[in-house]
Amino acid sequence: MATPPPLRLGVNVDHVATLRNARRGRNPDPVRAALLAIEAGADGITAHLREDRRHIRDDDMARLKAEISKPLNFEMAATEDMLRISLATKPHAVCLVPERREELTTEGGLDVVGQHNALAPFIARLNEAGIRVSLFIAADPRQIEMAAKLRAPVIEIHTGAWCDAVVDGHAAKADAEWHRIVAGAALARSVGLEVHAGHGLDYATAEKIAGLPVIAELNIGYYMIGEALFVGLAETVRAMRAAMDRGRGKAAGANHSLTGKA
Ligand code: PXP
Repeated sequence: MATPPPLRLGVNVDHVATLRNARRGRNPDPVRAALLAIEAGADGITAHLREDRRHIRDDDMARLKAEISKPLNFEMAATEDMLRISLATKPHAVCLVPERREELTTEGGLDVVGQHNALAPFIARLNEAGIRVSLFIAADPRQIEMAAKLRAPVIEIHTGAWCDAVVDGHAAKADAEWHRIVAGAALARSVGLEVHAGHGLDYATAEKIAGLPVIAELNIGYYMIGEALFVGLAETVRAMRAAMDRGRGKAAGANHSLTGKA
């Protein structure tokens, strides 16, 4: 059996910034999370600079670019402001996503069929700057064919509807969404696109989609940041207990010297 091509893991650090912004401070730092993710085997880092800056901020993106040793995938809406920032940041890749202020997360794929006139010059400018463009779209044949016409080298298939159906136990819907992804990925490869996928993936859905050799990269964030709490919380409680014990130990030493007792 031929060895399938490698599958890259892009780790999305947006939700480390979500947590930091809850206190409007410096911790937890998404750049520190990115460095740790790379140390643990991530092939790249993804971050979404949203128009409302609800998680990643401009200085996070600049620091990610300056401090990480692996490719940075800059997710953004196709606006002039974002184009200016991305051209100045010079990430390895830009992933164009749809954005609505009121949404909780990126809910659907980009409508590249409806917006092709606006997207064409936008993609051309990123291509000229040597930034690899990826279009975050549904596994819909019309969208995939238009992505190829727009000369974007990469598409990222939105896996959110499939993942939601799997988690909610809607077997028929999950099956239909899965077949759309399989057919869409094959079509995209056949028209020369590199195929990525992401949104809502957990261990089970990542394992399943990793079985499609036409997919070159998965971008995953939310589930891993949530899991990291459980994997890391016990260790953090032990470290806090140890810090408190050290402090109390020092106070005990100081009391002894104050009272002159041995
Ligand atoms: N890929 C794209 C284009 C996204 O917008 C997102 C979410 O920001 C992801 C991947 C990661 O999705 P999740 O955080 O649900 O794993």
